[in-house]
Amino acid sequence: MSVGERASAAEEIRAARERYVARGVATPSLVVDRAEGARVWEVDGREFLDFAGGIACQNLGHGPSAVVAAIHEQVDRYLHQCFMVGTYEPYVDLCRRLGELWPGEAETKSILVNSGAEAIENAVKIARAATGRAGVVVFDRAFHGRTSLTMAMTAKLVYKQGFGPLATDVYRAAAPYPFRGISTEDALASLQLLFQQDVDPRSVACIVLEPVQGEGGFIPMPPDFVQALRQICDEFGIVYVDDEVQAGCGRTGTLWAIEQLAAEPDLLVSGKTLGGGLPLAAVTGRAELMDAVHVGGLGGTFGGNPVACAAALAVLDELTAPGFAERAEHVGTLLRARLEEISSRQPLVGEVRGLGPMLALELREPTPEAAKATTAAALEKGLLLLACGLDGNVIRLLPPLTATDEELERGLALLEEALDDAGAVHA
Ligand SMILES: Cc1ncc(COP(=O)(O)O)c(C=O)c1O
Repeated sequence: MSVGERASAAEEIRAARERYVARGVATPSLVVDRAEGARVWEVDGREFLDFAGGIACQNLGHGPSAVVAAIHEQVDRYLHQCFMVGTYEPYVDLCRRLGELWPGEAETKSILVNSGAEAIENAVKIARAATGRAGVVVFDRAFHGRTSLTMAMTAKLVYKQGFGPLATDVYRAAAPYPFRGISTEDALASLQLLFQQDVDPRSVACIVLEPVQGEGGFIPMPPDFVQALRQICDEFGIVYVDDEVQAGCGRTGTLWAIEQLAAEPDLLVSGKTLGGGLPLAAVTGRAELMDAVHVGGLGGTFGGNPVACAAALAVLDELTAPGFAERAEHVGTLLRARLEEISSRQPLVGEVRGLGPMLALELREPTPEAAKATTAAALEKGLLLLACGLDGNVIRLLPPLTATDEELERGLALLEEALDDAGAVHA
């Protein structure tokens, strides 16, 4: 097939996408043919470096061999069973493994579901059943999903505008954001005000927080904020829910980001990289809370699909293998040093921030144009890059933690060129 014909194949797929796929799902022009490690190839044969990682699902890169082998092995045994029809080992093994990897002392149990949003919904159900209370406290710039309950918990209009009525009993407080002048003290004062104005803390079932806000702009939560929330939860009998869907599974250098914040959650929600590319998410938590739900109150047809469980067991083996944490730390150090250099040269950049290798650049102007221009220029140059943040002005880096130094350096060089192009227009 000639290059011309292959390019037209991409055009055909784009045209069919316009015709048959709902426009509400935002997609760029990229038409993927295959992917491996830190690289993605378009149907016209063009190669891209992937710093988007399927939005934090590829912390191990595309197609890690141990994960693919585990999937093949399970595919040959059985594809689906439904845990409500028959117990199967991969589901039980994964719940045991998640318990062994719990960031604290508690005895845990888990439930497996299909997506991060579904897992957050289940965490709220469990917290409500355990406390007999309705209130859910979330924070500014939070992202917890797109289902009916989770869009009410998510703090960005685009995800909920026109989709109401929204779920009730969801309350929002400020979260620390030092770059915009919001300190831990400010955020805690906002929570106190919420407790005085809107909801008695004794009516709150759970507080849900991302340890590093993801879609909200890669904002690491300060340890003293997380610890203060832990204390407030203890004082009022509130369930602390740690949403690690984006920040977990090694993204920050430790398996769970909260390990670096010196606090033990009551429930931990994982997803994205957990399934190694297959749809899987989990709620893991203190056994007595998890068992507060009556038999039949939790479940779902595909939740904890055996193939996804087999993948997840291999993913967790890889993430906890000797040398992985050191490699992740190295990636974080390399990225941060180069981002600081870029920031010192590039006036568009306001701040470099993140936790370990979960890093981003916030642009100075609180508007999306320059970030959009940067991600578009990066795509032209062969780098997949995502923006995030309430103002759409944060450029987040999600390369695989298994990427080579050469791939990371090359991606950063392309990022700098893309920023230069955007700066020429938006400075
Ligand atoms: C922190 C966080 N929680 C929950 C979700 C929802 O996960 P999913 O898209 O798998 O429903 C996301 C997705 O980006 C997320 O980043």
